[in-house]
Amino acid sequence: MIDYRPLRIALLGAGSVGAQVARLLLENKAELAARVGAELELIGVAVRDIKSKRSADIPVELLTTDAESLIVAADIVIEVMGGLEPARTYILQALNSGSDVITANKALLATHGTELFEAAEQVGAQLYFEAAVAAAIPIIRPLRESLAGDKVNRIMGIVNGSTNYILDRMDSAGLTLEAAMAEATELGYLEADPSLDVEGYDAAQKIAILAALAFHTEVPLDRVYREGITKVTKAQITAARENGYVIKLLAIAERIDADGSGEQGVSARVYPALVPREHPLAAVRGAFNAVFVEAEAAGSLMFYGAGAGGVQTASAVLGDLVSAAKRHVAGGPGLADSVHANLEVLPIERIYTRYQITIQAKDQPGVLAQIANIFAEHGVSVETVEQSVNPSEPGKTPTASLMVGTHEATDASLSSVVNSLAASEAVESITSVIRVEGL
Ligand code: NDP
Ligand code: HSE
Repeated sequence: MIDYRPLRIALLGAGSVGAQVARLLLENKAELAARVGAELELIGVAVRDIKSKRSADIPVELLTTDAESLIVAADIVIEVMGGLEPARTYILQALNSGSDVITANKALLATHGTELFEAAEQVGAQLYFEAAVAAAIPIIRPLRESLAGDKVNRIMGIVNGSTNYILDRMDSAGLTLEAAMAEATELGYLEADPSLDVEGYDAAQKIAILAALAFHTEVPLDRVYREGITKVTKAQITAARENGYVIKLLAIAERIDADGSGEQGVSARVYPALVPREHPLAAVRGAFNAVFVEAEAAGSLMFYGAGAGGVQTASAVLGDLVSAAKRHVAGGPGLADSVHANLEVLPIERIYTRYQITIQAKDQPGVLAQIANIFAEHGVSVETVEQSVNPSEPGKTPTASLMVGTHEATDASLSSVVNSLAASEAVESITSVIRVEGL
């Protein structure tokens, strides 16, 4: 029954996501009203340029360049403009006037989340952000609500679609990084500034948001370790394939007791890693996303779907809108996200990982022993060694290629091993260093 006054919705932004939010909101008005118990009245859509071409028809009388007037008049504000400013100022204005806010802006949340959540809490407003991580995939609500009574220990995900597309094309079609990036650009997958994707910044923002929710701890963006995919070579992709692995850009958040003292800390990190081909994340192809969550009671859970796209992201925004509108109708306090656990965010050096290191070594007596010694000196245990002799070149010392897989060790020890190998006379060159996950 619709017996509540119409709720006034302000939409900030009508680009890929915003135009689809507006379309769905207008097309599904009656159904949404029935679900909420109040009409959702789109009172206006703020844009930079009213004349810009849009992916959906929006009645011209709704378009405005005056975002502030819309915010003042709204019950609920949807921010899909992107960027840090003026999005931050607009969201603060909306929250301070008591409006609930929905945002898809991962960059803003990862940078100014604490300030925004505090502002919301102070006035009893709610900030919703399901679309900010992995777009259409429900992952925020499961962490915030469904798993709220459980203890999440680890999250490992592919949360950037464009880099997954690039790595997948390198793997499945044998493309170079440059050729795969050109394809991704052509398909419109990359951000306007592609370094946000390929250098891992976008994935770092997303894992900072997930880690904070999962571990009830503030995770500043500058404490997230980050490596992108720009150094991944075609040779690494081929070697991975031959050895039963695939390379994925992983975003990992983990609760760990790094020094065995019983004191827990949090690690949040992004890097390309070898994943066994039989691992569920290896099957995530193209621009899709997936997030693998391990919780104490629930066990392993996998969330999979479209991690980008205007209409797909609009689905998550509208889900948040229905929740916000229902709260308006039913009343009740906002859900505050707690950072009570306040765990230490650990640097990468203290994290336990495995490396696979490919070395071109002199093919001479004693070389293998020298190399094995370097691992032992740094307390790193070798798990596998595969050797192949390289074709000989006239006048050159014969060389062999050694692929060494390690057991888990601290990242600090593993990188010391790599430095010592590079300085060793037995080693001609190190041709690949990559972490291994999912074993
Ligand atoms: P677009 O660049 O396509 O659209 C941005 C919109 O905001 C445009 O309509 C633009 O106006 C408007 N805008 C920008 N600055 C201002 C301003 N100062 N005042 C008023 N309007 C402004 O972005 P997307 O739709 O792709 O992304 C929106 C948000 O959603 C971002 O935070 C993004 O990270 C997030 N997101 C996007 C996904 C995607 O697949 N696209 C997936 C998940 C999250 P005009 O049209 O006039 O230029
Ligand atoms: N650039 C992002 C990606 C868009 O490739 O996943 C969705 O956040």
